Amino acid sequence: MKKILSGIQPTGELHLGNYFGAIKNWVDLQESYECTYSVVDYHSMTMPYKAENLQNNSWRMVYQLLACGVKAENLFIQSLIPEHTELTWILSCVCSYGELTRMTQFKDKSDQTKETSKDSLVSAGLLFYPVLQAADILLYKADYVPIGKDQEQHLELSRNIAERFNNNFEVDYFRSPEALFTETPKLLSLANPEKKMSKSLGEKHFVSLFGDANIITKQVKSAVTDSGEAQSGVMSPGVKNLFELLKACNKTEAYKVNFEKWESGSLQYGALKGDVAEALIELTQKFKNNLQHIRENEDSVKEQVFASSAQIRKKAQQTIDEVREITGLAKLRR
Ligand code: TRP
Repeated sequence: MKKILSGIQPTGELHLGNYFGAIKNWVDLQESYECTYSVVDYHSMTMPYKAENLQNNSWRMVYQLLACGVKAENLFIQSLIPEHTELTWILSCVCSYGELTRMTQFKDKSDQTKETSKDSLVSAGLLFYPVLQAADILLYKADYVPIGKDQEQHLELSRNIAERFNNNFEVDYFRSPEALFTETPKLLSLANPEKKMSKSLGEKHFVSLFGDANIITKQVKSAVTDSGEAQSGVMSPGVKNLFELLKACNKTEAYKVNFEKWESGSLQYGALKGDVAEALIELTQKFKNNLQHIRENEDSVKEQVFASSAQIRKKAQQTIDEVREITGLAKLRR
């Protein structure tokens, strides 16, 4: 079976955009691939963060992923496998400084850091971020990496690093991982359908996956539909977004009924919103129930993820032993 690896930062609560854009795909891929998914807490240290929250956030993300259907045996917390940092160091020595400073995410995030907090530094960790990501992928010799377009450049770097390692040490060791882009619905903010659904825009702009039914209803009811004058025959982004949501939730019948009404000019946005709210509440109720069950069994769930991390670590250690040999480092006594 081909291998898949992906990672997500422990950034608090998941929303519909995360779910339909990535996590649902992760869950589905488990059927046909050997999947390994990581909550990448080392990556979260590259921007200013609060140490007292990080560990909790990592576990919170673990629970949410499990509630969405990620299997415990496929999931680990990155820092429970410290080999990720060791491989990062080794790979950084076959990666050029210029390659890293050219990464657009590095440029964006370092600008952002300089603008938002005058006294926080642009860390070397931020520069090394994509090398850590390459280590995540190469440590498990992944064939495919499901990512969004924003991570394409990082994956390209991972491929370059793999090739350069092989060339420098005259081995055919690492395989070049390929990006796996899956067609996913592009969900927009309900409050501002000019923008992508995202947490950074603020409370009103995302629908939580584990949110209260009343809040979801309120968010959907107040979704922006036609801003300005509606052009006949052209669907506004806000209305299109509501249709996207219905489709994403597999409500094909409701989609069809509403769409026919829209075509004939008799669609009531209130009715469409009612259908969307109902679909979202049905979907999120399932996740909420799962999450509650996980919380009630927190200790045993934690044990499972510690066990899977230990299991996955064995593969990482095997790679590290081989890499140490190839690169001439002292042989570890295990
Ligand atoms: N950088 C990725 C993101 O922000 C997260 C990530 C870390 C990742 N390690 C990875 C994604 C390895 C794919 C493979 O989305």
